[in-house]
Amino acid sequence: MAKQFKKIGVLTSGGDAPGMNAAIRSVVRTALSHGVETMGIYYGYSGLIRGDIHPLGVRDVSNMMNHGGTVLYSDRCPEFKTEEGMQKAIATCRAFGIDGIVTLGGDGTFRGATDLSVRGISCVGIPCTIDNDITSTEYTIGFDTATNTTIQLIDYLRDTCESHSRCNVVEVMGRNAGDIAAYAAVASGATAVVLPEVPFSEEALMEKIRTSRRLGKHNFIVVVSEGMGSDFAPALSQKITKATGVESRFARFAHVVRGGSPTLRDRLLGTRMGAFAVEQLLEDKSNIVVCEQGNQLVSMDIGYALVLDRMYKGKLKDGDLAPFTEEQIASMQAHCERKRALIASLAASVDRIGL
Ligand code: ADP
Ligand code: F6P
Repeated sequence: MAKQFKKIGVLTSGGDAPGMNAAIRSVVRTALSHGVETMGIYYGYSGLIRGDIHPLGVRDVSNMMNHGGTVLYSDRCPEFKTEEGMQKAIATCRAFGIDGIVTLGGDGTFRGATDLSVRGISCVGIPCTIDNDITSTEYTIGFDTATNTTIQLIDYLRDTCESHSRCNVVEVMGRNAGDIAAYAAVASGATAVVLPEVPFSEEALMEKIRTSRRLGKHNFIVVVSEGMGSDFAPALSQKITKATGVESRFARFAHVVRGGSPTLRDRLLGTRMGAFAVEQLLEDKSNIVVCEQGNQLVSMDIGYALVLDRMYKGKLKDGDLAPFTEEQIASMQAHCERKRALIASLAASVDRIGL
């Protein structure tokens, strides 16, 4: 018989992302509309282990959709990866009467959700990370805001670059994924983008800058993904000055783009995914992650989503594909190809149009 939910939990884990608060609000109010109470689990899995848990009523989630960060706070909790930590977390769920949890975070958070699911606590994941590096969804909550902030900051840099006829090499976050770099480079009219997914020719970049300068271009913006390594962008900036004669400065935006008021897209995605996650949970679905595909929300088994992710990142482990049919593997491969093609096309557009 389907589980009857009376009380669910919601937690945020891993790196925070603008739009998480919209999702929390939506979880709480959607659950209430079904007569289900929501408990806020503070500090991610750490709070689940130590019982830092408090009820969230309709007014507790007012006036927060417009704020970045997460009102539930976040944490990285190594103890949760141990069997002892996991057992403590399960005991807390039982003590608080929590039947299911909506977990907001990235792939690490979903691995934790799987571990809980297989031990009887229903879990539904919502992909929240500015990196957009959850392959199963076209967009993660937080990516749009972070990328818009990145564009705005690049616009500021361009003003001063233009006045001084300089180049600015900008390193942006994204961990090993070049999504923020690629989208921001296109949307800010950058001269070049350097990201782990696409080959880069230093000599072609130098030649492009020399030629454009000869043809009268004043400012140059080169966007580099942090996945290239922390020494790459500062070194590239120095090389540009030396090889082209165009004075270059280096800027690292770092965590600043992880904050700020969420954009329309992130508020909408947070609200939609929060509601969808609760409805899936109440339909007794578990061990799934909510994904946006072609503007539709769908749910995907977390195991499938994590393997798809490893396939895209070239990190498949022995036996990863064993549980899946040939059709499923072909579908995963096609999915990865589409994502690779999208990122490559954005980088190609920068090369062609960023003149
Ligand atoms: P993200 O969710 O953004 O990928 P992390 O990788 O830091 O962030 O993961 C968030 C938390 O999820 C970790 O601190 C840990 O508590 C939990 N977690 C991560 N990996 C696992 C795992 N393999 N098994 C169980 N829990 C995990
Ligand atoms: O995953 C989000 C992210 O901001 C990455 O872009 C970055 O590499 C990392 O988290 C930074 O982590 P921390 O907040 O632990 O410094």
